[in-house]
Amino acid sequence: MKNILIALLLALATSCLACSGPDPPGWSSTSQVRSYSPPVTPGNISTVTHHLWTRSNFGDPDYYVLYPLNKTSLEESPFNPEWPTYFFFHGGHSNAETHWCRLSKTEMLIRREANVFSTDYGHMVTDGSEDINDAVNQVANLTAAVIDWLHEETGLLHSQVHSVGHSLGGNTAGLVGFYLKGKLGRLTVMDPSKDTSDPPTVDTSYASYVDVWHTNGGPVSEGAESTLTRLGHVDFYVNGGTHQAGCPQDYTDFFAQCSHCRASDFWVESINADPPFTAWPCDSWDDYQGGLCQDCGQGCLDMGPNDVKRLNGTYYLRTAPEPPFALGDQQ
Ligand SMILES: *[C@@H]1O[C@H](CO)[C@@H](O)[C@H](O)[C@H]1NC(C)=O
Ligand SMILES: *[C@@H]1O[C@H](CO)[C@@H](O)[C@H](O)[C@H]1NC(C)=O
Ligand SMILES: *[C@@H]1O[C@H](CO)[C@@H](O)[C@H](O)[C@H]1NC(C)=O
Ligand SMILES: *[C@@H]1O[C@H](CO)[C@@H](O)[C@H](O)[C@H]1NC(C)=O
Repeated sequence: MKNILIALLLALATSCLACSGPDPPGWSSTSQVRSYSPPVTPGNISTVTHHLWTRSNFGDPDYYVLYPLNKTSLEESPFNPEWPTYFFFHGGHSNAETHWCRLSKTEMLIRREANVFSTDYGHMVTDGSEDINDAVNQVANLTAAVIDWLHEETGLLHSQVHSVGHSLGGNTAGLVGFYLKGKLGRLTVMDPSKDTSDPPTVDTSYASYVDVWHTNGGPVSEGAESTLTRLGHVDFYVNGGTHQAGCPQDYTDFFAQCSHCRASDFWVESINADPPFTAWPCDSWDDYQGGLCQDCGQGCLDMGPNDVKRLNGTYYLRTAPEPPFALGDQQ
């Protein structure tokens, strides 16, 4: 359990507070201030809540606060168990309204009805938080209890739930699958913190389908913040998985927070991407760059929530250096 601490603290020290990208229309400066202010006072699990957006409360500041295991709170909520249900997990030094959570909520709800939850636990993973590993375990455990409760109270199917997290939030999103009584439909982990803890934060047993996105994996000495280790049914190595196009290609990438934050930019774009983030099955970035993976083989995949093929393996793709990032079938 102790080993993870160092890696997680690292992620905490350098999380994506201000990942760049356009703000959605109507985003006011007041709420922006709120959005970018990480909690300063360390708190405890008793005040973790789940913010819920649906099409009936679509605007950024219009989220409904669901209090865990509070029946009145559930009855008054716009939650509908028939809809696909997402749980987003922000990283360290952040909160439920962080940039990528708001933007992907909007992208999700443009086309379809859904329950989009963002777990608000910034006060658990901020300066002064004593044991980050313990914090992410507690938050995942609580969220798992909330999902099991929604299942019991409303009939929500575990298979309808998609847990999604970036950075430290990727580790939290994964652990939900560990604590859950039923099996998550899907788990998407974007550039997770390195992890040698027990239980592991990400594992293929935690969901029917686990996809892991690597955008800044590798050794710290090369400016990499996360892991290149294969963790999912499918692992996407974007631009090779260590440094992103348009980002520094050396140790300064770590301080720029460029490649690490691109993971969530890609996620936001992937929800309605046209062209999609097409990825090819391939054994290595060298093979990919050498043109050895031009055949889709068992099947190419469109990285993002719309990928429903449920294939296994390692996948590679390139992106543009700036938005729109997706290159479609242009290898
Ligand atoms: C948790 O935080 C709440 C609100 O700040 C406080 O009232 C409570 O005493 C705390 N509980 C523990 C166990 O620290
Ligand atoms: C339960 O939820 C209701 C409705 O949102 C709220 O008024 C109440 O304070 C909550 N109770 C607790 C103990 O959080
Ligand atoms: C998980 O939550 C349950 C209550 O729902 C509690 O009994 C248990 O101690 C928690 N485990 C962890 C690791 O936080
Ligand atoms: C992917 O791996 C899982 C677990 O190892 C296995 O159950 C499943 O059949 C595999 N799917 C494919 C398409 O190979």
